[in-house]
Amino acid sequence: MTDQNDPRQLPGADPHTGNRKVDPVTGYSTTGHDWGGISELNTAFPKLVIWALVLTFLYSVIAWILLPAWPLGRDYTRGLLGLDQGVEAVEGFRELTAERQGWLDRFATGDFATLQSDAALMGRAMPAAARLFDDNCAACHGTTGQGGPGFPVLADGSWLWSGTPEEVALTIRHGINANDDSRIAEMPAFDWMERADREALADYVAALPEGRGDTDIPAAALFAENCAACHGEGGAGGLEVGAPSLTDASVIYGQDRDTILRTLAAGRIGVMPAWSGRLSEAEINLLALYVTSLSAGNAETVQ
Ligand code: HEC
Ligand code: HEC
Repeated sequence: MTDQNDPRQLPGADPHTGNRKVDPVTGYSTTGHDWGGISELNTAFPKLVIWALVLTFLYSVIAWILLPAWPLGRDYTRGLLGLDQGVEAVEGFRELTAERQGWLDRFATGDFATLQSDAALMGRAMPAAARLFDDNCAACHGTTGQGGPGFPVLADGSWLWSGTPEEVALTIRHGINANDDSRIAEMPAFDWMERADREALADYVAALPEGRGDTDIPAAALFAENCAACHGEGGAGGLEVGAPSLTDASVIYGQDRDTILRTLAAGRIGVMPAWSGRLSEAEINLLALYVTSLSAGNAETVQ
């Protein structure tokens, strides 16, 4: 029990003498609590804090009344204003989807010439196509279609198959070497060939991009005999069998001597996944137009 008349029990008083200590700097008495030489001043609780607490409490009461606030089993209090951000979000999403579906459906026709000539439609669709490409294709082909080891560049106008939207859509729909409906593209192994011949061929092919494909050397004859059926005369590329051009700078695996020797020894069979079933026809057509637009800036080599 505290005895109001006992000065030793007053806050800040010395428990033995009853004398209050006074802080010489501020003039306040102290509570008597001492933390290693730092003593606590006996001051009032700041009013600002009390007002802040009162105001936040009042605000929360008003918010409870006006806005959705308290859970009630499976329901909740709606609040007098009847706001519901969940419903708003769902409605907003529905509107967006309906808007997107409105123009996306037009791509299902696959009438590429008409679609491409509609500048307003393309302007609206291309950002969505870029997102679709990012989500589904960029992991292999790179975010800008720049390709990577084993994955062809899509942005350079040099094609394995063809750069028309129709052919690109077909590639996306059924893939390459992915299933029975896919395009088939296989570089056979030439492991049966004499090593010396393979080395001569590798030197010849490695020099093709620099235009040094001499036609009257034995390697040129070897190429004409073994490779030109697929890769075209002089290595110009064979769009019917998905055989890459060997004369341009665009390479899938690499066109240095060592990589070519590995390609010749073991063959190559790259897999491009099929997207029918995973993407809608409209999305596939949209992507086909997007992919062809990637190379539009480098159109000089389009085949
Ligand atoms: C798992 C990796 C992978 C993914 C994902 C992928 N591709 Fe491919 N794609 C390849 C490979 C590998 C090839 C080359 C196949 C070959 O070697 O013949 C290819 C080839 C292509 C070609 C043929 C290019 C030409 O020159 O004719 C197109 C077009 C293409 N992909 C578009 C796409 C699009 C669009 C997507 C996204 C919907 C996509 N790819 C997703 C791996 C992938
Ligand atoms: C049956 C058709 C066929 C024949 C014959 C063929 N190739 Fe190929 N070659 C391909 C195909 C298809 C590819 C692409 C494989 C892939 O993408 O997975 C390819 C890929 C290559 C590549 C890799 C190119 C790159 O961009 O990285 C080189 C190099 C190559 N062939 C060289 C040759 C040489 C040299 C010969 C002759 C000895 C030859 N090929 C014969 C179909 C053929």
